[in-house]
Amino acid sequence: MDIKIKIIDRDGVLHEIDAPTDMNMNLMEVVRSYELAPEGTIGICGGMAMCASCQCYVKSDHELPEKSDDEEAMLAEAFNVRENSRLGCQLHITEAMDGLEVELAPEEL
Ligand code: FES
Repeated sequence: MDIKIKIIDRDGVLHEIDAPTDMNMNLMEVVRSYELAPEGTIGICGGMAMCASCQCYVKSDHELPEKSDDEEAMLAEAFNVRENSRLGCQLHITEAMDGLEVELAPEEL
């Protein structure tokens, strides 16, 4: 099935998109598939929790899976990290995320 996700891009524009729960996609891949961030600025490590280009801020109060040690470690080194930061590539799209609202973190230069 599809769920709705609200994504605020790096220009502050809100996009409400449909994301499939049955295609084994993560949030970074969804952002890429909708081209909400320029090619080459997100998903640089391919979803391995090794670059933080997919960092986003979770704005809704959804219960999301705990961060893995790899995600914690990457966020400890990344820039612009906030309390609600997550790595999009580590968030697999599930039905529990219906209505999720996230904002893409600024690009790391
Ligand atoms: S794509 Fe590199 S950490 Fe998510």
